[in-house]
Amino acid sequence: MAWEYSEKTRQIFMDAVHGKPGTHMGEIEKPDGFGEHGSIVCGDALRFSFRVRKHATDPLQDVITEARYLTFGCTSAIAASEALCTLIEQGQFTPIHALKITTQDIVRFLEGLPAQKIHCSVMGAEALESAVYNWAQKRGVDLAQAGVQLQTKGEDDGRIVCKCFSVTEPYIRRKIKELNLRTIPDITNAIKAGGACASCHHAPGGLQDLLDEAWGRKPMSGGTAPALPAAAAPGEPSPFQLYKHIEQVVAQSIRPALQHDGGDIEVVDVKDDLVYCRLTGACKMMVERTLKEEINEHLRVIAV
Ligand code: FES
Repeated sequence: MAWEYSEKTRQIFMDAVHGKPGTHMGEIEKPDGFGEHGSIVCGDALRFSFRVRKHATDPLQDVITEARYLTFGCTSAIAASEALCTLIEQGQFTPIHALKITTQDIVRFLEGLPAQKIHCSVMGAEALESAVYNWAQKRGVDLAQAGVQLQTKGEDDGRIVCKCFSVTEPYIRRKIKELNLRTIPDITNAIKAGGACASCHHAPGGLQDLLDEAWGRKPMSGGTAPALPAAAAPGEPSPFQLYKHIEQVVAQSIRPALQHDGGDIEVVDVKDDLVYCRLTGACKMMVERTLKEEINEHLRVIAV
């Protein structure tokens, strides 16, 4: 499965992974603001930090001069994080103004993202919010008094609707409205919830119920949010299904052969068409050839 990235997204990603001057991958030592979002278990996580030029008397006039990120994620997670840092630095934003950057701003900056990758741009905005909260605590800023209602506050404690991705009800409710999500695939593309076993789709209090509550029982005409691209083509395996298929082929066809010769293999992660494996005494070429033959000719094995 090859994602259709814009030329700009591809270029930003390449520049970032090669550490080209002006890119933002990394971490700021002793940052003025620090936040995280996502979960390594779910395959995506983002850490965001920034430094400000401190105003002598009014912390509300601090200006972000440097922003950095670290992400455990794919091409789009890296490109979206780069976009966020660039927008903040170029805009000379105060931390509070930086909160106005939306998912749509990031997608626009990247000249589009595949629908299934929108959640990567959502992660950045959430990590930024948590970093601003951290900055406010350090600088003694009362965000409520400054007119800022932090969206994420208390959301982690809500009822978990999607167990596969640990996504809570308050978070899903907020994102349905904020991103104008109209269908279950919209939700999955934006925040991953519902993207694995699907048992949260139509369970009582599940995704469909939350959609019905938000928009009324009848599906609304007018479809999805304009800034988000269309959903995945029917019949194409979800990332979870691809991962399970790879594990199955490894367990049935590859691992027994390797163990016979004293080697072993562990699938660590799958991102797009890249299969990250821990190999012991194993032939990477043989693993890759088998995966290509049995699943998809685009798959590539990366030894980690
Ligand atoms: S519980 Fe939501 S996808 Fe499994």
